[in-house]
Amino acid sequence: MCGIIGSTGEAATLNDLVEGLARLEYRGYDSAGVAVARADGTLERIRAVDGTGSLRLLAELAKDRSDGYIAGLGHTRWATHGRVTTDNAHPHMDCSGEVGVVHNGIVENFRELKEELEQAGHVFSSQTDTEVIAHLLESYLKDGLSLKDAVMSSVARLRGAMSFVAINAKDPKVMVATKRMAPLIVGKGDKANFVASDIPAILGKADVFYQIGDDQVVTVSPEAIELFDLAGKPFELKEIVVEWDLEAAARGGFRDFMSKEIFEQPNAVRDSLVGRMNAKGEIALDEMRLDPEELRKINKIFIVGCGTSYHAGMVAKYAVEHWTRIPTELDISSEFRYRDPVLDQQTLVIGVSQSGETLDTMAAMNEAALLGAKTLVVSNVMGSSMARAADAALYTRAGPEIGVAATKTHTAQISALMLLALYLAQVRHSLYPSEISDIYSEMLRLPDKIDEVLVGDAAIEEVAQSMATVKKFYFIGRHVGYPVALEGALKLKEISYLPAEGYPAGELKHGPIAMIDSDAVVFGIVTRTRLWEKMISNIEEVRVRGAKIVLIANNGDVESISLGDAVFEVPQTHPLLAPILDVIPLQLFAYHLAVALGHDVDRPRNLAKTVTVE
Ligand code: G6P
Repeated sequence: MCGIIGSTGEAATLNDLVEGLARLEYRGYDSAGVAVARADGTLERIRAVDGTGSLRLLAELAKDRSDGYIAGLGHTRWATHGRVTTDNAHPHMDCSGEVGVVHNGIVENFRELKEELEQAGHVFSSQTDTEVIAHLLESYLKDGLSLKDAVMSSVARLRGAMSFVAINAKDPKVMVATKRMAPLIVGKGDKANFVASDIPAILGKADVFYQIGDDQVVTVSPEAIELFDLAGKPFELKEIVVEWDLEAAARGGFRDFMSKEIFEQPNAVRDSLVGRMNAKGEIALDEMRLDPEELRKINKIFIVGCGTSYHAGMVAKYAVEHWTRIPTELDISSEFRYRDPVLDQQTLVIGVSQSGETLDTMAAMNEAALLGAKTLVVSNVMGSSMARAADAALYTRAGPEIGVAATKTHTAQISALMLLALYLAQVRHSLYPSEISDIYSEMLRLPDKIDEVLVGDAAIEEVAQSMATVKKFYFIGRHVGYPVALEGALKLKEISYLPAEGYPAGELKHGPIAMIDSDAVVFGIVTRTRLWEKMISNIEEVRVRGAKIVLIANNGDVESISLGDAVFEVPQTHPLLAPILDVIPLQLFAYHLAVALGHDVDRPRNLAKTVTVE
């Protein structure tokens, strides 16, 4: 899942590409590169391989080299095929060095294509799947096709989910781009036009943004942006409404994006919740495209997601079943479609995806749609591939999230999913209107309560620093505290690179307790629910075995507080909403521990924010 960008036009510069790549870094940073078409008809390539420093190095190498710039391509890589080397860094070129390509995704049939092209005399200089695209284009151009037609013919031969942008030094003003189940948008500026993996990459440079559909091809020149299907039939451009500004995508005074995003949670949750109740006191989800009549017929729900989104989905399962009484299953997206799930027209499949682009979740949703189920996506990105493909979309309004480890989008996701659960209860009359409005009112109090939790930041930092030498962490919770435990462990793993396990507290004695000794730190979610007493017994079990105990407890709950070596206090709320507050101290702990260990929290090793490979 790499980041790609291209620009053409009088005002376009090499700097635009480098800046855009910096905003796409969340998609990978194994290497970075640009290819620039200059007025003299040459294509110059600059590539940098320096791990998390790749973009910095590229910026140095590219400095002041915009002279004669006509158009260019940029790429930030998350390696799939071919090791992390300069030869494998994008852009890739054909034999003549005139065709440049940047690519995101995987060409699944690249081996057979490569063999065929090599037999025809093409010479490859990398181990990547991408390079076959450049050589395929070269062969079609040699047959006399235009770059647009060459891209169309090539796409028909490529298998897999991908997006790519191509440029030909012989006619450099015209970029040609395409996508299939991988993100790509077009931007129109005053004197320059762009393509990019996502909107923040070209925010401030382009003013109007357009969608590209799967298996569509777009030609972008300084004068025009034109969209076609693979048969060459023109399509009207559909604009994407963008409510983000540049300020929102920048760090705004924080040390890094992750801390900024943790502290943005009151707004992320507030913006995702406000205005969702109409004058009649009913939950109104304006962007929902599913008819209430259809929702009344649903008799089974599946929730699918990956990583942090999966954990938000797990919280939602408890609420959906409790409030609607609809049997609800939860699946990791990459498992869902391979396990032959039982679905029909009365099934609703809810995909949870911050980006709306994660390939496994998208594939799970597509599979569900093929089997006749209704599909709904909860996403943070308007017009994302999943939002367009699903029957309905519900948007979180968290703003762009740049830090690879998801924080504000997680609490916004749980908020949106809770709204959805209430909406389902409303249309199916499984809760009284007064119960729904009471819960919604409590939801609206959450942003202030999150502010209260954030006040504890300095104390959490101190505890994290005191644990900088601890080598094993456990997180335990029950009921909705279980997904909080999983998320706490995931955050720690992602940015601290330390072994951390999330466990349902009741299962401890069936195995993991064997690992508990005085070297272990156990985090327990002991906010007040009807399982509080059982949780406390589980905490006692690990305490007597010597573990150091850190508790997430309600403000002033002396009984809980007395059991912890350290306690992070959070305000009380409705038990099903508690994960929105309880997870925040765990985000802060993971953040401060990673900083104490000297890690790059925004760009953890081996990870990417949006995973568009299977
Ligand atoms: C990657 C990210 C995670 C994210 C997951 C799902 O693994 O590093 O932070 O939770 O993908 O992404 P999505 O965009 O579908 O929510």
